[in-house]
Amino acid sequence: MPTQLRFPRRSFLGLLFLFSLSTSALYFIYSAPGIVNEYLFMVQARGIQIRENVRSIGAQVLEQMVRGAYSNVNGTDYAYDFNLSEPYVQTTTYLPEGFTYLPSQKCPERLPSMKGPVDVNMSEVTLEEVERSLLEGDPSLSAGGHWKPKDCIPRWKVAILVPFRNRHEHLPILLRHLVPTLQRQRLQFGFYVVEQAGDEPFNRAMLFNVGFQEAMKDLDWDCMVFHDVDHILENDRNYYGCGEMPRHFAIKLNKYSYMLPYNEFFGGVSGLTVEQFKRINGFPNAFWGWGGEDDDLWNRVQFAGYKVSRPPGDVGRYMSIPHHHRGEVQFLGRYSLLRRSKERQGLDGLNNLRYTPQVSRRPLYTNITVPLTRELAPVADY
Ligand SMILES: *[C@@H]1O[C@H](CO)[C@@H](O)[C@H](O)[C@H]1NC(C)=O
Ligand SMILES: *[C@@H]1O[C@H](CO)[C@@H](O)[C@H](O)[C@H]1NC(C)=O
Ligand SMILES: *[C@@H]1O[C@H](CO)[C@@H](O)[C@H](O)[C@H]1NC(C)=O
Ligand SMILES: *[C@@H]1O[C@H](CO)[C@@H](O)[C@H](O)[C@H]1NC(C)=O
Repeated sequence: MPTQLRFPRRSFLGLLFLFSLSTSALYFIYSAPGIVNEYLFMVQARGIQIRENVRSIGAQVLEQMVRGAYSNVNGTDYAYDFNLSEPYVQTTTYLPEGFTYLPSQKCPERLPSMKGPVDVNMSEVTLEEVERSLLEGDPSLSAGGHWKPKDCIPRWKVAILVPFRNRHEHLPILLRHLVPTLQRQRLQFGFYVVEQAGDEPFNRAMLFNVGFQEAMKDLDWDCMVFHDVDHILENDRNYYGCGEMPRHFAIKLNKYSYMLPYNEFFGGVSGLTVEQFKRINGFPNAFWGWGGEDDDLWNRVQFAGYKVSRPPGDVGRYMSIPHHHRGEVQFLGRYSLLRRSKERQGLDGLNNLRYTPQVSRRPLYTNITVPLTRELAPVADY
C-alpha cells in the first residue's frame, strides 16, 4: 500500500466516532427535541459543567456527548461548581410564632407563616373549584387575582406573569399552590395569564413583554415574576419579592434531579424589578419556539452588570407538571441568535414591541390574549 494513502488508524477511528455521534445527535435534535433536551439537562445536572453553553447545536450536543463518554472512560466525573453566587446571604432565622407586626409597618420578609415545605397536590382540579375554595379562604381576593395584606404594608407589589397556550389543566394547579403561598409571604400581588393566539410557534419571551406592558397599565407594580405555568414551588420560604439583583427562583427541578442544569440557567421562574427589566430592554422578541430566550435574558442581565441571585439550599425546589413540550416546536435558530445577544439587546425587546391584546378579568387572573406574528417585533438588519 502506498504510504501517502495510509491513514493514521487512530484519527480515522476518531473521525468515524465523531461522525456517528453527530448523525445520531442530529437525529435526536430533529426527531425528539423535547426528550433529548431534558435528557441532556439531566446529564449536565449530573456533573458536567458547560461553561460556554451557547455556541452551536452541533458543538453543544457533541461536547456533552463526548464529555459524557470521556468521563466514563476515565472513571472520573467533572466536578460541578455548586457554589451559587448569593450576593445576600439569607439567614435562617424566621420570626417566632405569634409575632405581631403593625399595619403601619412594612411586612417582615421571614414570617412565621412561612413554614418551609409545601404539600404539592398534582391532581387535576377545575378552575371553578380553585376559585371557590380560595375565595372562601379569603374573600378579599379580588378580580384578576389581586390581593394585598391588611396587617402590614407589603414590601413588594408583585405581578406574576404566566405565558400560556393549551395548558388549561395546569393553570388551576399552579394557582391553588401559589396564591396561598404569596398570601403567607404577605406580598401584594396580581396574576396575568398571557395567552398566545394564532399559529406561530410559541414565543414565551414576547408574551412576557406583552404581559409586562399590560400589567403596568393596571397598577404601579414594582416587581415582575416570570412564571412558567407548569412549575409548582415546593417551599414557601422561596420569597417572591425582588431584590437588588435579578432573581432566579427555580433552581432545583424534579425533572433535572433537583439540580441546576447549568450555571447560566435562568429558566422556569425568575424575577426582576420593573427598573431592572426596563434597563435590560425586557426579553428578546426574536425567539420563536421552545428554548433559548432564558439564556438570552441571562446574557442581558450580565451585560447590564447585574449578578443573578438565587435562593439557598432546598428553598429553590420545584416540581414540574410532566408534558414533554407537547405541540411546541423547538427553536433551532437560538444558538446563532444567542451569539449576538449583545448587539440585539438594544434593538429587540420592549422598544420594538407592538401588539393588540384582548383583556378580560377572571376571579384569579387577568386574561391577556394576544395574536403574535413576526412582523409585530421587527428587528432591523444589523
Ligand atoms: C483523567 O482525568 C484526570 C483528572 O482527574 C486527568 O489528569 C487525566 O489526564 C485524565 N485521563 C486521560 C486519559 O485523559
Ligand atoms: C464559594 O464562594 C465563596 C464566596 O463567594 C468563596 O469564598 C469560596 O471560596 C467558594 N468556594 C468554592 C469551593 O469555590
Ligand atoms: C388533591 O386534590 C384533589 C382535587 O382537589 C383532592 O380531591 C384531594 O383530596 C387532594 N389530595 C390531598 C392529599 O390533599
Ligand atoms: C382567555 O380569553 C380567551 C378569549 O378572549 C379564551 O379563548 C381563552 O380560553 C382564555 N384563556 C384563559 C387561560 O382563560
